[in-house]
Amino acid sequence: MIQNVAVIGAGTMGNGIAHVFAQNGFKVTLVDVNAAQLEKALQTIGKNFDRQIAKGVTTEEQKKSALANIQSQTDLPKGVKDAQLVVEAATENLDLKLRIFKQLSEVVADSTILASNTSSISITKIASVTKKPDMVIGMHFMNPVPVMKLVEIINGYATKNDVTNTIVNLARQLGKIPCVVNDYPGFIANRILMPMINEAIYSLYEGVAGVEEIDTVMKLGMAHPMGPLQLADFIGLDVCLSILNVLHDGFGNPKYAPCPLLVNMVTAGKLGVKSGEGFYSYAVTGSKEWVVSERFKRS
Ligand SMILES: NC(=O)c1ccc[n+]([C@@H]2O[C@H](COP(=O)([O-])OP(=O)(O)OC[C@H]3O[C@@H](n4cnc5c(N)ncnc54)[C@H](O)[C@@H]3O)[C@@H](O)[C@H]2O)c1
Repeated sequence: MIQNVAVIGAGTMGNGIAHVFAQNGFKVTLVDVNAAQLEKALQTIGKNFDRQIAKGVTTEEQKKSALANIQSQTDLPKGVKDAQLVVEAATENLDLKLRIFKQLSEVVADSTILASNTSSISITKIASVTKKPDMVIGMHFMNPVPVMKLVEIINGYATKNDVTNTIVNLARQLGKIPCVVNDYPGFIANRILMPMINEAIYSLYEGVAGVEEIDTVMKLGMAHPMGPLQLADFIGLDVCLSILNVLHDGFGNPKYAPCPLLVNMVTAGKLGVKSGEGFYSYAVTGSKEWVVSERFKRS
C-alpha cells in the first residue's frame, strides 16, 4: 500500500502534486536541487490552501494536517529512501529526466513505482534507463493540480498491469479522474491540444482572422473557457513549440510542423505570460489583465 510519496521538482507542478497528496493523507517528501525553490513551494502550498479555505473547499485544520505531512529535501537519495511511489516533476528536459531516473533506479526499493509527470517525453525512453522498466509509468497531472480533475496515466511499453491499476486507484483516492493511454508522442492531451493551438496560429499567420476573433470563435462557439491563442500564452510558446517538435519528430508527419510564426515568436523571446508578451501583452497590467499585443492589433 502506498503511504509515502516523494515528489521530485518543487516548481509549478511539483508543489501542486505535493499539495494534493498531502491533503489526502499521504506523507510527502518534496525534493528539489534548489533550496530556495523548496521554500517558495511550501509558501505557495500554504497560499493555495488559504484560497481553498476562502472558497469553503477545505478547513484550517485540514490545512494544518496537510502541511504537517510535507517534508522538504535537497538530497535525492535521502528524499526517496522511504517512498513507495516517486512522482518526478522536474524541468522538461530529456537528459535531466534520464539522469534522475537512472539515479532513482539505483536507490529505491524494487517495489517502488517510478512515475513521471512529463508532458511529452516518452515514458518508454525514461523507463529504458532504469533497472525495472515495468515499474515506470506516466502520471500526467494538469495545471493547476489542486483544481484540475484529470490525471492522464501513460503506460510505457513495459509497464505492468499491477502498476497501472495501483496508479489508477491512487488517482481516484486523490479525488481525480484517471484516463489510461498508451505511450506515443504527445499521449492524448497534447496530441490533440497542440495541433489545435498550431492551427489557431496558422489562421492568424495566414490572415484569416485576428487574435481576438480566433479566440472569441473558440470561446463562444465551442464553449472553451479560454481561446487557443491565449491558452498558448499561458502554457508558454516555447513549451508549445517543443511539444509540437516532439509530435513532428515522433510521427514524421508534416501535419505537426510548427507554424513559422510560432517559431519566430519563440526566437524573438515572445513566450507569452512568462515573458510579458505573446499574442497578448501582459507587461503593463500583469497576468490578470491583458490587451492584444501591439504587433497583432488590427487598425
Ligand atoms: N507547467 C505546466 O502547465 C505543466 C503541466 C503538465 C505537466 N508539466 C510537466 O511537469 C514537469 C515540471 O514542470 P513545471 O512547469 O512544474 O516546471 P518548473 O520549471 O516550474 O519546475 C521544475 C523544478 O524542477 C527542479 N529541478 C531541476 N532539476 C532537478 C533535479 N535534478 N532534481 C530535483 N529537482 C530539479 C527545478 O529546480 C524546478 O524547481 C515537466 O515535465 C512538465 O512538462 C507541466
